[in-house]
Amino acid sequence: MRSSRGVALNRALLVTLSLLQLARGRPEVDSRASNYTFPEDFIFGVSTAAFQIEGGWNEGGKGEGIWDTYIHKHPNYTADHLNGDVAADSYHLWRDDIEMIKSIDIHYYRLSISWPRLLPNGTDNNISHDGASYYRTLFEELLKVNITPVVTLYHWDMPTPLMDLGGWTNPKIIDYFEDYARVVFNLYGDLIQMWTTINEPHQQCYNGYGRDYFVPALMSHGVGEYLCTHYTLLAHARVYRLYEREFKPYQKGKVSITLDAFWADPKDPNNPNDVQAAKDYLQMHLDIYAHPIYSDVGDYPSFVRERVNNMSRQQGYSRSRLPYFSDEEIKMLQGSADFYALNHYTTFLMSHSSMEPGWMVPSLDHDTGVKMEQNESWPRPGADWLSVNPPGFRKLLNYLNDNYRMVREDIPIIITENGVCDWGQTEDYERVSYYNEYLYQVLLAMYEDGCNVKGYFSWTLMDDFEWPDGYTTKFGLFKVDFDSPNKTRTPKLSAHSFSHIARTRRIDFDYIKPPSNLNKLFE
Ligand code: NOJ
Repeated sequence: MRSSRGVALNRALLVTLSLLQLARGRPEVDSRASNYTFPEDFIFGVSTAAFQIEGGWNEGGKGEGIWDTYIHKHPNYTADHLNGDVAADSYHLWRDDIEMIKSIDIHYYRLSISWPRLLPNGTDNNISHDGASYYRTLFEELLKVNITPVVTLYHWDMPTPLMDLGGWTNPKIIDYFEDYARVVFNLYGDLIQMWTTINEPHQQCYNGYGRDYFVPALMSHGVGEYLCTHYTLLAHARVYRLYEREFKPYQKGKVSITLDAFWADPKDPNNPNDVQAAKDYLQMHLDIYAHPIYSDVGDYPSFVRERVNNMSRQQGYSRSRLPYFSDEEIKMLQGSADFYALNHYTTFLMSHSSMEPGWMVPSLDHDTGVKMEQNESWPRPGADWLSVNPPGFRKLLNYLNDNYRMVREDIPIIITENGVCDWGQTEDYERVSYYNEYLYQVLLAMYEDGCNVKGYFSWTLMDDFEWPDGYTTKFGLFKVDFDSPNKTRTPKLSAHSFSHIARTRRIDFDYIKPPSNLNKLFE
């Protein structure tokens, strides 16, 4: 983990280096293609998550969530030893958030409800009055100014009392998640038309249940991480069916689950082993979630089933570490999404390996058997994991299109998160360029490849609590001064350029240019 002093010292150097890298990595812009425009009904939005911005961790009767509890116990967990107690203080400053969204002329806002703010114990016998009215007021005020809220039920902030029972490894969580969802649909279903149930189950199960990179830091690699996969999928499907049965007939909204995916390219495209490694990775990390929901046959992909069964057998387990769905569960999951909600950030280069430093046995890493690297020449404006490789986005959209039924059954793809981090400068040329280049790939996927993409949400509206990074890495379109009492929000260049794209419906690569002494780097 980085220290914030190191961050400050390296900032100038990083900016210069990444601009240089950006220049090298930038694809040729085809003037014909760059004239493609986003259709009028294409959704442009901004995204946030409750724990990352709200603060107010113990206000209004809120219960504790796992990120509160864990970081209070382990203050050194985050890179800057800070926590989410106050964050961007959106619990109090939500009116400023609305003003920001208005100021950039964006009309969709994806945000999440904090489960422990609404149900302090996690269970529906105790609904917090303050919590309930906080979200009701927020949604109503957004709608008044023509901003449509898109709501995520669960963005990683499990109520601590339910985590004490095993969180997503306990099958009973499906019932508790359904109870919570019913409360939410009853309270806000008249206002909300687009829902996603669970945010990035893959990241949460892999990094939080299999490893200790995210909370709850269970380290139940190869066992708890698959239980988490299994029960998050079932909990999602149960809630989809709940909505379909009890609410959809009159509320008429749409429901999905937000799935994350890195793109996987072979390290050496001419090496059939590397080509296979990239395919293996995608099946073990992406299709394990997407296949049960979007494929024609349902269930886990047969490759995943066989791989985990064989590895489990070889390791002396008498049952597979990957649980089985019943026939009824397979049916409940199949088709349990009205759109494909996709979060995407970066690409990795894949090759086979039987063991790498940091892998544990058993684990999803070890079962997958794929080593992940990135190209040193790709720009990396912030966190180590996030290199910029725009063409990977188009390939990922095509992968979903080819493997699932996005077009055939008219299931659109909505990109619920995409963005890049840096160290917080308001002149964020790398972010301006990232949005230009990644959105350009979306246009190519739509117009040249026929991918059914209907919306795009930038991650994220403003600088926030970035999980183990604390406040060191920044993804915001708006800078937040975390040291000021009002958590002052200031637009960065990317806020202007993103707004320009949303307003004009096209990408103008020249709209914001870097200072003239850096210009030549972009040509
Ligand atoms: C995806 C997560 O949903 C979000 O919470 C996080 O901040 C971004 N990735 C960036 O790491």
